[in-house]
Amino acid sequence: MTKKKELRIGLIGCGFMGRTHSNGYLRVGNFFPELTYQPVLKAVCSRTENKAQAFAGQWGYQSVETDWKSMIARDDIDAIDICTPNDKHAEIAIAAAAAGKMILCEKPLARTLDESRGMVDAIEKAGVANTVWYNYRRIPAVTLAKQIIDSGKLGRIFHYRANFLQDWTINANLPQGGEGLWRMDADVAGSGVVGDLLSHCIDTAIWLNGSIKNVSGMTETFVKERMHQLTGKVEKVNIDDACAFMCRFNNGSLGLFESTRYARGHKALYTFEINGENASIRWDLHDLNRLEYFDNADASTLRGWRSIHVTDGDQPYMDKWWVPGLGIGYEHSFVHQVADFLRSLETGTPCSPTFREALETQQVCQAVLDSAASGTWKNTNA
Ligand SMILES: NC(=O)c1ccc[n+]([C@@H]2O[C@H](COP(=O)([O-])OP(=O)(O)OC[C@H]3O[C@@H](n4cnc5c(N)ncnc54)[C@H](O)[C@@H]3O)[C@@H](O)[C@H]2O)c1
Repeated sequence: MTKKKELRIGLIGCGFMGRTHSNGYLRVGNFFPELTYQPVLKAVCSRTENKAQAFAGQWGYQSVETDWKSMIARDDIDAIDICTPNDKHAEIAIAAAAAGKMILCEKPLARTLDESRGMVDAIEKAGVANTVWYNYRRIPAVTLAKQIIDSGKLGRIFHYRANFLQDWTINANLPQGGEGLWRMDADVAGSGVVGDLLSHCIDTAIWLNGSIKNVSGMTETFVKERMHQLTGKVEKVNIDDACAFMCRFNNGSLGLFESTRYARGHKALYTFEINGENASIRWDLHDLNRLEYFDNADASTLRGWRSIHVTDGDQPYMDKWWVPGLGIGYEHSFVHQVADFLRSLETGTPCSPTFREALETQQVCQAVLDSAASGTWKNTNA
């Protein structure tokens, strides 16, 4: 057996994403045996020693750090994986790039467009491999949607519609800020649903349907004040609780996007639908192995929405998993992103979305927020 090349990982932040990425690094070698690189879980960083040790024990990291700067200074680490809340993405990525590390960064790239630009400059100056974890692209049904669109089957595209709905912040007594609730604090998160949820929808939309030219958006903060966990004081809430925007894509199609954390009954309902001249496509995260497809070329007597169970070996990524008919889940999208990143190191072709590509999503997010604040249409300049 040929010896694999090691990719020594330093993971920063052991929360939700720290777990999904660690699972990806552990699984990838079992399911993508052809890859020449193998991740090695070299070190994990948490601000508290106990938490870092517990995480290292659970996932098999060889060592721990309590300061991300020490992690970056180590010469036995090749790649830094940023799984911290958004306020640390830019600082860590810029320092890691200066130290010559490869970088895998969680989305959104940063809190603001300006911060994101600084990250792209740093990484391009350093010339290091990089990717941003917009993982929904790598759910097989979503990848299949991309293949169908690129094959031209939809023809001219007229409409792109996406929703990302949750309901976890309706309770007005829920505090903001601090561990577990940083998404409610604009200083840490940058924005509310725009950066957290719509960024996913925008990334997928740009990937599937091309660049967005201009936007007109509205946002609302339904609960205006909440107790801040860190200060203990009731403070103004500065994030957007909900946002809806319409847009024009460069290809002439119209887009409609909505996201909220106030849609009672919905936990993480990400859906999109694309309507073309010849065919339409629909996808729903709650039924992620299925892609719905309507083809107007079908015989009129049989025409209707097909529900394609994306589990066959000739569908994207599925030759790596079980047998036809058996589905996979959310966590596999992260295994796929690790596999694609490792393959990109072999081929030298960047692993999409790169920081540069994710910057375009930030441009759209910024334009949406600016439009909502001004009540006018905004160009994304993408
Ligand atoms: N790709 C996706 O689908 C997806 C899903 C959820 C979150 N995210 C993104 O991942 C990032 C993390 O989100 P999460 O849900 O894992 O949050 P989380 O709160 O579960 O975990 C964040 C962790 O980072 C730690 N942390 C904070 N500052 C730190 C520092 N200076 N040094 C070391 N550790 C630090 C926290 O203690 C916590 O353990 C965010 O940018 C978020 O937007 C992406």
